[in-house]
Amino acid sequence: MLIIQLSDSHLKADPAGVYRDVEVEARLISMLAVVAGYQPDLIVVSGDVSDDGSLASYQRAAGHLDALGCRWVWLPGNHDHPATMAEVRALEPIIHLAGWQILLLNSWVEGEEGGRLGRQQLAHLDAQLAGEASPALLVLHHPPVSVEADWMNEIGLEDREAFWAGPGRSDHLQAVLCGHIHHEMTCLHQGVPVMSVPAIAAQFVPESQEFAVDSHAPGGFRLIHLGVDDAGQPRLSTRVEYVPVQQPG
Ligand SMILES: [Fe+2]
Repeated sequence: MLIIQLSDSHLKADPAGVYRDVEVEARLISMLAVVAGYQPDLIVVSGDVSDDGSLASYQRAAGHLDALGCRWVWLPGNHDHPATMAEVRALEPIIHLAGWQILLLNSWVEGEEGGRLGRQQLAHLDAQLAGEASPALLVLHHPPVSVEADWMNEIGLEDREAFWAGPGRSDHLQAVLCGHIHHEMTCLHQGVPVMSVPAIAAQFVPESQEFAVDSHAPGGFRLIHLGVDDAGQPRLSTRVEYVPVQQPG
């Protein structure tokens, strides 16, 4: 089974809208054309679908995703407006596929760039991991780890210690996927791989101590193959595919 993770399209109400020198809707459309060639079983969009939280931006994003003809879900990032998003497509907290549980968390906090899961959502996660033994893939917008950039850590996941302190994290979580940092990253935390994906919109410069954008760096998406082997062990393999930026003219 193939899941494709996309993130951070930052669409605007205006279809010609630009995010940090990138015409984001054109970038989304060209990326989805590459994604379509893989015919994934599920697409997960890990937040910042919209840059301005407008209904029009969500309607157009949903239209482009619907046109692929495969199942897709989204979850909110800090730039999103979850209630408006849910008017267009409900936020699903869990999906079961191929013997796995895919957990979709909401780290949005009104008016803040950083994220927080909150006690109630963490309690639900604790209960879910305690009650179901199937391997879990967890997706949220804000990385639940510190990254090699201080400015980004200041707008990271505020309650990440509480996230990792709960039961079942190292036992059941096979991987955590996130967006928000606008570049590819992989790290291990408590033995669990935590991986981000490049943005659809402009990329941030990795390991920069100050906010820095590389509008010419290619965007990309993550392919995640999930399964269970003959011995009943979960199997996951993943890679990022980059989509070259089309230079105008
Ligand atoms: Fe973003």
